Amino acid sequence: MKPSLPVTVVDHPLVQHKLTLLRDRNSSTATFRQLVKELALLLGYEVTRDLPLTTARIETPVTSMEAPRLDGKKLVFASVLRAGEGLIAGLSELVPAARIAHIGLYRDHDTLEAVQYYFKVPDNLANRPVIVVDPMLATGNSVCAAVDLLKKAGACNIRFLCLLAAPEGIAQLQNRHPDVAIITAAIDERLNEHGYIVPGLGDAGDRMFGTR
Ligand code: URA
Repeated sequence: MKPSLPVTVVDHPLVQHKLTLLRDRNSSTATFRQLVKELALLLGYEVTRDLPLTTARIETPVTSMEAPRLDGKKLVFASVLRAGEGLIAGLSELVPAARIAHIGLYRDHDTLEAVQYYFKVPDNLANRPVIVVDPMLATGNSVCAAVDLLKKAGACNIRFLCLLAAPEGIAQLQNRHPDVAIITAAIDERLNEHGYIVPGLGDAGDRMFGTR
């Protein structure tokens, strides 16, 4: 079996502080949404760390220089609906020119399997870095289904950004897609019998959108 890419846990103090506020059941919907956006900005910095650079000749007010700029085709943020949208709010501010893919999956509450209902992606996926985003890596079924669909559509440079990961989800994603690097703010203890991450933060989508 191919060795899987490592999991990066972003242990920056600001990330950890904001994550604690996010976990707190007393944080309001507005606070939760704002924190997800702020965490996306901070983790976005890490997940884009190795994007390829080229140079361009520019004129500063003082002289001309060869200055670094992002190379290649625009990257793609692939939002796993609906909770992925909270992260997109921050990531699209960080990289305004990024293309946004939407992948509609819901979790069957009995089987915990991902069921697809929507898939819309930019062209030329094979030539773009694709960053799949979903706040929670629980069983791993949703992200694996999302990566399956993206690979089928041509993507070959994929990484995954989340806020919380369960060991079970990491194992599943590494097993099915060892070429997909995982970037997260924390790895929690386990999943409970309902598929929730423990200690976790509850249902990310419901807390973000004020639903139940
Ligand atoms: N999805 C969530 O929103 N929360 C969990 O704990 C697991 C999956």
